[in-house]
Amino acid sequence: MSPVLPLALPGLPVARIVEIAAFDGQRVQIRGWLYGKRSKGKLHFLQVRDGSGLIQAVMFKGDVDDATFAAAETLPQESSVLVGGTVKADARAPSGFELACDTLVVVAAAQPDYPIAPKEHGTAFLMDHRHLWLRSRRQHAILTVRARIVKAIRDFFDGRGFLLLDTPIFTPNACEGTSTLFETDYHGQKAYLSQSGQLYSEATAMAFGRVYTFGPTFRAEKSKTRRHLTEFWMVEPEQAYLDLDGTMELAEDLLCAICADVLHDCGAALDTIDSIRSEAEEHRQLRPRREALAAVRKPFPRMHHRDAIAQLQALGSDIGAGDDLGGDDETVLTQRQETPILVHHYPAAVKAFYMKRDPGDAERSLSVDVLAPEGYGEIVGGGQREDDHDTLQNAIRHHGLPESAFDWYLDLRKYGSVPHAGFGLGLERTVAWVCGLPHVRETAAFPRLMDRLRP
Ligand code: 4AD
Ligand code: MG
Repeated sequence: MSPVLPLALPGLPVARIVEIAAFDGQRVQIRGWLYGKRSKGKLHFLQVRDGSGLIQAVMFKGDVDDATFAAAETLPQESSVLVGGTVKADARAPSGFELACDTLVVVAAAQPDYPIAPKEHGTAFLMDHRHLWLRSRRQHAILTVRARIVKAIRDFFDGRGFLLLDTPIFTPNACEGTSTLFETDYHGQKAYLSQSGQLYSEATAMAFGRVYTFGPTFRAEKSKTRRHLTEFWMVEPEQAYLDLDGTMELAEDLLCAICADVLHDCGAALDTIDSIRSEAEEHRQLRPRREALAAVRKPFPRMHHRDAIAQLQALGSDIGAGDDLGGDDETVLTQRQETPILVHHYPAAVKAFYMKRDPGDAERSLSVDVLAPEGYGEIVGGGQREDDHDTLQNAIRHHGLPESAFDWYLDLRKYGSVPHAGFGLGLERTVAWVCGLPHVRETAAFPRLMDRLRP
C-alpha cells in the first residue's frame, strides 16, 4: 500500500499566502513547499511557497520540539510541508508578513538533488527541466501576468458585446499561407492544425455581429527567433460593419486595457520579474515594467507603410518600397518608442489573400500591424477583409489556394456581404513585451518551439 500523505494540520485554518494579510495575528497553516532556507544559531528561516506566493516562516528552537528543529535543518529544497504558526506583520518582508512557526510536518521529503539551484543555469538545461523550473519565482510571476492578460482580453471583449465563439483546430484549408501548415491525417483525409480562426470568425461575425475567438493556433515555423513559437495563443476579434480605422482603434483600446489591468493587479509580479534578470537582459537596459506600462496611452502613432520604409531607408536600410517589414526592421522602428505604433497599408503582395485592397491604391491593402515598443515589434496583425465575391475568388486563385476548400467562405460574400474587419493579437508576444522578456519561450508553461516538444 502506498503511504497516505497528510492533507492538512488538523484544526488549523488554511491561509493562502496571497491572502495572508487577512490573517494578521492569527494562528494558521500554510500548505506548500520549502523554497529555500537559512539558519542562524537557534533560528531557521524557512522560505515557503504555496503556489500563491512566498513567505518566510521563522522557527525558533524554543518554540518546537528538538526533532522538528533538527528535521528543518536538513530538509531538502522542494520538500512538501505543512507549516503552522502565527501571522506577524513585518515591514521588511516582501509580502509584508512573516509566520512565527510552531509546527512543521513534512508531507514528502524531496530528494536532495533538486536540479534547479539558485545559480544561473543555461537555457537548454532550464527548458529541459521546465516542469520544475515553473516553480521559480520569476517564472511564477511571468505566468501570473499571462493569466491576468488573458482575463483582461476576455473582460475587454465581453464588456463590448463581442461573443466568444471558438473556432475549430482541425481545418481543411490554410488561412495564413501554405508554408507553415502542420498537416495531419484526418481519417484518410488531409487536415491542418489551425493557423488562425479568422475565416471562421468572419462567418460567425455575419451571424452575431461582434465575435472573438481565443485559443491555440499552430504554425510550422522554420525560424528559431525570439518571437516564434509553433503553438501559440491568439485572440481574434471580428466585427461586421467595421473598417480599417475602426479595427485600429479597437486594437489600441485593447492594448491600453491590457496595460492598465496588469498595472493595477500585477505590480508585485512585475517587480519580481524586474528584480531577477539575467546579465544579457540587464544589458538591454529595459525600463522598469511599471514605468513602461504606465507610458502606454492613446493615441498610438500611426504610420503608413510607405513612411515606415522611408524612415528605415533614412536610417541606412536597403529595404525596398514593396517589401514587408522584417523582425529587425520592426526592432529599429520601435526601439525608441514608448507606446505601440500602428503601421498600415502594407503592399497587398506581402499580405494574405483575404485583405481588402485600398480602393484608392490597388497595390496596397487595408491592413495594419501593431508593433510593440522598446524593440519588440509585431504583436497584432489585422485589417479590413475583402468583401466582394469576385475579387476574393480571384485572390484565392491568384494565391494558388484550392478553391474547393473555400466555397463556404465565398458564400459569406454571396449572402449579405458587409464591410468587416478584425485582427489577431499573439498572446505570448504580448506577454513577452509586457514583462520585458528577451524571448517568448518563458511566456508559456510548456512552450512549443521548432526544436522543442518536451517536456
Ligand atoms: O499576423 P498574423 O499571421 O495574422 C493572422 O493570423 C490573422 N489571420 C489575424 C486576424 O486578422 N484575425 O498573426 C497574428 C499575430 C501576430 O501579430 C503575432 O503576435 C502572433 O499572431 N503570431 C505568433 N506568435 C508567436 N509565434 C508565432 N509563430 C506567431 N505567428 C504569429
Ligand atoms: Mg503578421
